[in-house]
Amino acid sequence: MAKSCFSVLQNPVQLEGKRAEGISRILERYGNHPQVNAEITIAERWSAEYFSLEKASRFSALARDAKASILKKLEQTIVGEIQLIEVAGMAFTAKMASLAPSVEERELYSFFAADEARHFQLISQISSPPDPETVKKNSFLRFIGELIDTQNPEPLVFFIQVFLEGWGIHYYGGLSRACKDLRTKQTLDSIIKDEASHHGSGLLLFQEAKLPQQEQQFIQETMGFFLDAIRIGPQSLTKTLADACGGLSEAEVVQFLQEIEFQKKVATDLGHIRSILQKSDSVELLKRFEAKKAFELPNIKDCAKAIISSWS
Ligand SMILES: [Fe+2]
Ligand SMILES: [Fe+2]
Repeated sequence: MAKSCFSVLQNPVQLEGKRAEGISRILERYGNHPQVNAEITIAERWSAEYFSLEKASRFSALARDAKASILKKLEQTIVGEIQLIEVAGMAFTAKMASLAPSVEERELYSFFAADEARHFQLISQISSPPDPETVKKNSFLRFIGELIDTQNPEPLVFFIQVFLEGWGIHYYGGLSRACKDLRTKQTLDSIIKDEASHHGSGLLLFQEAKLPQQEQQFIQETMGFFLDAIRIGPQSLTKTLADACGGLSEAEVVQFLQEIEFQKKVATDLGHIRSILQKSDSVELLKRFEAKKAFELPNIKDCAKAIISSWS
């Protein structure tokens, strides 16, 4: 794994004996979260409807057990990714606190760092331990890690607080509304509350016009990467179904994308990103993406090709 904020997952130093006991006692004290107290009540957190899978003929034709195993895998992917985003969040806020240009901003990022640690604890209570293999396989997580590791604070305010946390509020909100497990729902709602103030402070701190030309250029190119990833559609959902079906041809992927009406979801997601850019006064960025037609829906065959090529 390339060196990034996720390196901590690779061969972590194990604390032993008294030290390990003492540190875990202190962490437990900080991890006393009265607002999340519901028991995990059901085996399935999100139904096939949340993923629009009930409309897909290949999914409907599967046996009950195979369907349940797909939903379980999707759920593990979602929760595992959120957990690793929190690992990255702890690295981001620590970096921003140490490089802060004022005591007030250092104070702000230190409080945010405590929020991210709390989110990590909450999500870890409903998931398996963080898995470095997930980072290896997930280009989005690797990319976020590299950004945090290498970028200056100003572009990071944009990528992490304005874009990613703004996106997170939208994405986690959808997950929470559709979630059938009360404890998971409460965990997501508790995270969303904090992310709203992290995102709000990002909107206040980010000033596109004051960024040097080179950093504006970098933000434009990098945002293009995120937008393209969203426009091509549900890569991990399609891959999970393909694995369960012993593979899917390009025509079958096209049919699947049509059946789940993925363009409706992509249109909502793109609309949300556009509104984040408008709220943050990212005038140049918006102009550039409008000119490149980056908010327009892609051709479904191109999406299927891009999804299949992402599997290799
Ligand atoms: Fe967080
Ligand atoms: Fe956050």
